[in-house]
Amino acid sequence: MDAGGSKSAAPGLRSGEVAEIIHCSGRRVRLRRLRPEDRPLLQEFFAQIDSYDLQMRFFAGLRSVPPALLDFLMQVDCEQRMVLAIDDRSRGQGQILALAHAHAHPRGETAEIALLVRSDLKGIGFGSLLLDRLIRHCRNHGVARLEADVLRQNARMLRLARKYGFRKQTAEGGTVRLALELTSAAA
Ligand SMILES: CC(C)(COP(=O)(O)OP(=O)(O)OC[C@H]1O[C@@H](n2cnc3c(N)ncnc32)[C@H](O)[C@@H]1OP(=O)(O)O)[C@@H](O)C(=O)NCCC(=O)NCCS
Repeated sequence: MDAGGSKSAAPGLRSGEVAEIIHCSGRRVRLRRLRPEDRPLLQEFFAQIDSYDLQMRFFAGLRSVPPALLDFLMQVDCEQRMVLAIDDRSRGQGQILALAHAHAHPRGETAEIALLVRSDLKGIGFGSLLLDRLIRHCRNHGVARLEADVLRQNARMLRLARKYGFRKQTAEGGTVRLALELTSAAA
């Protein structure tokens, strides 16, 4: 669990250990931060994401994730970014099942988030788990507002976000901007 659990004075999203064992839909999984050495696991993870889900996540018709995008998604060593992973270590060196990115704006009050669950594992609770922990972590690190850009047709993400209190801010073209205020009154 996020160390401390209370509001931290440390700026940025990098501080604070995250490590939690969770039972979710009959699987024993681990929630943790993504680490630089996870690149091969991340590559395997993306090989199992179908083109529809890549479109929902990156808003582009990708058949696979190019190396430059993988490098960008692997950027975990900076105060403004945090990446949470759900992994399963029951076989071999383990596998990543789901990922959540949070990218804080330079002054740190607002962070943009995005989630991705392995295509064959959608709908069993991993997205909810990640979003819950991401909200908690960001709130504990002084982030005041979360935002997510979601494609209008992405019913799953829209419902998931609504369940956690996100509200529609703007809609432009095919995209909806959702926001959640992390003030204590909204907690
Ligand atoms: C969107 C996504 C992250 C949700 O994760 P998930 O693990 O599938 O979601 P969960 O199983 O936790 O379900 C969360 C909620 O989604 C909604 N949901 C689940 N399955 C759904 C379906 N088939 N249709 C519509 N809504 C659905 C429900 O509201 C559900 O909450 P509930 O179970 O309390 O009713 C995941 O489906 C995904 O990675 N999609 C592709 C990438 C993407 O769209 N990313 C978002 C970009 S910001």
